[in-house]
Amino acid sequence: MRFPEDVPVLTDGSITLRAHTTADVEPAYEACQDPQMQQWTTIPVPYLREHAVSYLTEVIPAGWRNDGSFAWAIEYDGRYAGTIDLRDTQGGQGEIGFAVAPWARGHGVMTRAVKLVVRHAFDVLGWNRVVWRAYVGNWGSRRVAWKAGFRHLVTVAGGGLQRGVRRDEWVASIGRDEELEPQGHWWDVPVVEGDNLRLRALRPDDADRVVEACTDERTQHWLAGMPSPYGRQEAEAFIEGRLENSASGEGVSWAITEPGSDLLLGNVSVFDLRNRIDATMGEVGYWLHPQARGRGVMTEAVRLAARHAFTPIEQGGLGRRRLVLYAAIGNKASAYVAEANGFTLTGTARAASPRRDGSFDDLLCFDLLSTDSRGESGPRSTE
Ligand SMILES: CC(C)(COP(=O)(O)OP(=O)(O)OC[C@H]1O[C@@H](n2cnc3c(N)ncnc32)[C@H](O)[C@@H]1OP(=O)(O)O)[C@@H](O)C(=O)NCCC(=O)NCCS
Repeated sequence: MRFPEDVPVLTDGSITLRAHTTADVEPAYEACQDPQMQQWTTIPVPYLREHAVSYLTEVIPAGWRNDGSFAWAIEYDGRYAGTIDLRDTQGGQGEIGFAVAPWARGHGVMTRAVKLVVRHAFDVLGWNRVVWRAYVGNWGSRRVAWKAGFRHLVTVAGGGLQRGVRRDEWVASIGRDEELEPQGHWWDVPVVEGDNLRLRALRPDDADRVVEACTDERTQHWLAGMPSPYGRQEAEAFIEGRLENSASGEGVSWAITEPGSDLLLGNVSVFDLRNRIDATMGEVGYWLHPQARGRGVMTEAVRLAARHAFTPIEQGGLGRRRLVLYAAIGNKASAYVAEANGFTLTGTARAASPRRDGSFDDLLCFDLLSTDSRGESGPRSTE
């Protein structure tokens, strides 16, 4: 192919993909000063003007001429906004890479660009599959890939190489006959306002409170699956894991907070939302910071979480038909929370709740149907 004559112009009316020009060098150089660009891509650091010059005027044209890689400049709002490329890895398959300047982020630019380029890969280049790769934690990129229909996501430990250092990598792909639309749910974690409480997404700065709550003796006793000892690393992994849960469609977790202080009082989750046998059910789980116990906090938090869980998906909820909740037989406070919210005790599973000492407790099994009365006026004290 000849550069730039043979570079196809792709547009959806909102963005245009075209051949790079020397006028793009300066904005590309500026965009590459962005810390996120440096954190999530393989560009040289520090990024010098000469890097932009050689990439745009030598590397990119050579890619087109050799039919090995195809990079387009993204034009948005009349300006150079970023670069997207396809790299042929042979055998009817290739990889996509992209980056957008900070000023153009969050407007759907990259999702549109990815869709245009993936269609080009299938319809013009004749590829059968396009592969997306990103370092673990690059949620913006993962969201773009999800919105454009990439699927079969896996994590490859040490799969990425960045400036000589191995990093864990997410890999997903899309095949030529697959829809360029999201597969599965990426649940929102909305703020839910109650009379006395506010549920919100967990944040990295909740870590200290999470450690306090999860090192507590009673939390450790009743939640035998919780890591022990439980330190900051475990708390940070837990918080990052909540993002993974909502992104994968597995569950939604909230920090329970008081409207005034915003201090984390505990956690409430609705999970198992991808249950293979019944995709309309969810399980409720929770724990509370010791300082927040005994005053009805979890009863209200579960009420708010259940309300959101039963709200139809079209209205921003989880569209659940049935919730289940399990409490080990001696855990009276937990059983109380279930009953105060109108859950029905359906039975006792024998020796079903593992303890840290190797023994097993019986497990009380509760459920709540969307058609049940929710016990909204139940008593408020738990202990
Ligand atoms: C990743 C990147 C390309 C996204 O570009 P963009 O034009 O902002 O993408 P879009 O606007 O099409 O979509 C971004 C989506 O990610 C979401 N998002 C961004 N950061 C997020 C985060 N930390 N967690 C969850 N979602 C996030 C946005 O809200 C948006 O979703 P929405 O439209 O449903 O609200 C851009 O941030 C970027 O260039 N980053 C640095 C370079 C990079 O990471 N490249 C990819 C390497 S694999």
